[in-house]
Formats: sequence, C-alpha cells, structure tokens
Amino acid sequence: MPKIPSDPTITVGALHLDPYAVYRRLRHEAPVMEVPVLGRIFLTKATDIRAVKDNPDLFRSGGTETPMERAFQAVTLMRKDGAEHQRDRLAMAPAFSPRTIRNHWQEVYTRIANDCLDDLPKSGTADLFSALAAPFAARCLAHLLGIESASNTQLIGWSQALIDGAGNFAWDPAPFAATDAAHEEMNALFDRESERHLAEQGPSALSAMVNAVDPLELSQIRANLKIAIGGGINEPRDAFCTILFGLLQNPENTAAVKEDPKWFVEAFEEGVRWVAPIQTSSRRAAAETEIRGFPITKDQIVMTIQASAGHDEEIHENPEVFDLFRANKTHQSFASGPHFCQGTHVARMMVAQILLPLLFERYPNMSLADPAAVPWYGFAFRGPLSLPVTLA
Ligand code: HEM
Repeated sequence: MPKIPSDPTITVGALHLDPYAVYRRLRHEAPVMEVPVLGRIFLTKATDIRAVKDNPDLFRSGGTETPMERAFQAVTLMRKDGAEHQRDRLAMAPAFSPRTIRNHWQEVYTRIANDCLDDLPKSGTADLFSALAAPFAARCLAHLLGIESASNTQLIGWSQALIDGAGNFAWDPAPFAATDAAHEEMNALFDRESERHLAEQGPSALSAMVNAVDPLELSQIRANLKIAIGGGINEPRDAFCTILFGLLQNPENTAAVKEDPKWFVEAFEEGVRWVAPIQTSSRRAAAETEIRGFPITKDQIVMTIQASAGHDEEIHENPEVFDLFRANKTHQSFASGPHFCQGTHVARMMVAQILLPLLFERYPNMSLADPAAVPWYGFAFRGPLSLPVTLA
C-alpha cells in the first residue's frame, strides 16, 4: 500500500487566513494528506468525509486527543460514542424538537429579533456582527438552554473562552485559566437556574435535563449546557453574517429574497455550504483500515473537513462562488452520522425564517459598506469578523 503523503508546508496561520485555497489544492493533488503541524490526516473529498462520519464503529469521536476535555473540564457528548453519547444527547432532545421549536421558540425568537432590530439605528452604517447577530444568537440561546439570567456579555465571553480553550493546541496555560474562571461563573448560574426549573418545568434544555425521570449526573448536565454555549452562539452568528454578505454582494440575490421569502431558506443552505461555520471535525480510527488505498493505522486521527466537502468540484461547479440559484446546494456543514448537529433546525429557523426576513423588511435597501474590507478568519470556526452594513 502506498504511504500517505505529508505536507510540512501547511501552517495553522495559512489555514486561518485562507483554508479554502489549501483544500482546493489537496482535493486535486492529495485528498488524503498528513499535516504534521496538526498531527492529523486531512480528508478533503466529500465522499471520504461522509464515509468516516457515517461509520462511528470504526471512526470514533472519543480519544481524539484535543484540548477540549481540559477546556471543558469534562468529556462532553461530542467526544463520546455509542450508548454513552446517545444518553447525553437524548437528555437535551426535547428542547430541540420541531414541536418545541414551533410551539415555543418561534414566538420567543421573533420577539428577540424585533427587540434587537429596535436597537439598530434607522440609517447610517452599523456593524451587524456585533450590533445584531451576536446579541440575537446569545439571547436565543439563553432561552433555549433555560439560563435566561445570563447576560449577553457573559454568554459571549464564556463561549469565546470555551472555543479558545478547545482550540488551544499549543496547550498554553492562559486560555485554560480563562475557561477555569468561566466554569466557576457558569456552574453557579446553572445551579440557580436548576432550582427554578425544578419548581416549574419549561421547554428549555436545562429544564428537560433536571426534570428527567432518570437524570444525567450533574457534571454531564453542565457539560451539555457548555457544549451548547460553545457552539450555539458563534455558529448562527457566523452563518447569518456569511449569508447576508452573500446576498448583498449581488443585486439579483437581493431582489429574489425580497420578492419571495422561500429564497431565505435557499440562501441559508448556500451560505453554510459556501463558508462552513464549523469547518472541521476529528475522528480516531478504532482499528487498522484504509482510505482511498492509503493505510490508516489504529488510533490515527483523521480530520474530516466539512468545509472542503461543500467545495468538492465533483459536486459543485465554481464552488467558491455564493450562488443563490445553484440547483444543488448539498453540504455537510452540520456533519452527518450520530453527531449530526443537534441545533440544525433551531439555527435554520433563527436565521432563515426569522432574522433575515425581518431585517430585509426593515431595511429593504441596505448595502454592504465596503465588501472588500470585510475580514474573514478562522480554520476550525470561520466567518466574517465584522460586517459593516449601510442601513436604508
Ligand atoms: C449554522 C449554525 C450551526 C452549524 C453550522 C453547526 C455545526 C455543527 C457541526 C458540524 C457539528 C458536528 C461536529 C462533529 O461532528 O464533531 C455540530 C454539533 C453540535 N451542535 Fe451545531 N451547528 C450550528 C448551530 C448550533 C446551535 C444553534 C446549537 C444549539 C445550541 C448547536 C448545538 C450542537 C450540539 C449540541 C452538537 C453536538 C451534537 C453531538 O455531538 O451529538 N449547533 N454542530
């Protein structure tokens, strides 16, 4: 069997700035490539990525040796497999079900969106990343999880600390000190909120977990909430900013969504295909196997790059273009297999059915202040760092 090629020229810095250029080259030259700086095998073809995620017996989520356990002070559901994983995941499921979304979150999130929009100026330029997307995502998450007493500033700070800690592959002490401080605050607030939910049951994830017939251990209840805090703010925020950028850069796109709201749903799928908010996930081989004829040894860690799956030229023509009218918008940006994003339906509703339509209703003639100046960043998580929009 041929040896897996290795590319020592790929740096973390280059991946943060323009990961898509690296993945394009790898898809063409070497779709199974060892990247020594990360100690992982990069998989960049859509079929390989799906095959790994859909085979959890062979490719496990546990034991992937990331700084996540240290940052989260727990083995979270994202790093568990089989029945253990299912138990943690099902404990939160009632809060994410289509029925709860329809009966509870739709109304709450519409109110939150209108409140956030009321805070925007009537005209002039506003950074919709910090003035709209981040506070909207934080408030929605506070309700979904049942921790409404957490302020947006707290939630955004905790989320960033957890993300920085989970991505701290250099194992620097400072990011872990920040997560440790965040844990103290989060645990104290969770305990207060739990008492309220035990007294009166509601639709939130915390309420479902503490009122369950066979509840999870306290440490796992906390870990579940923290996973949702780490993943539930940045992703809808980044998806919203990415989609809005994609729509506003092209007048035909803008005209289509203004004419028929069905295009917001299409824009959502195209936006997360175009720039995946969570770009990569790691899996560990539980036994010796092979991918594309290359040997994978037991315990080797493969990085399934869902960002690259959405740009695979075998599926998408001109993948680097945001094209609302593209017929096939297939992507794996919510992953697949047992760890498929639990917040998919919530995120679609928040962004495609509530925030984008309401924003276009209020500002039908808004435009990007300076599209070329919008900074895009990130390797594990990716999106614009700010989005100045001229409101009109
Ligand atoms: C556009 C927005 C979002 C995107 C693109 C996204 C993407 C993803 C991806 C790719 C995974 C799988 C990671 C892996 O396979 O290792 C994941 C898992 C997860 N997501 Fe999301 N997510 C989004 C929004 C949300 C929201 C709003 C929540 C709500 C709190 C959420 C909660 C979760 C949870 C709990 C998991 C872990 C599922 C498990 O391990 O079983 N996500 N997400």
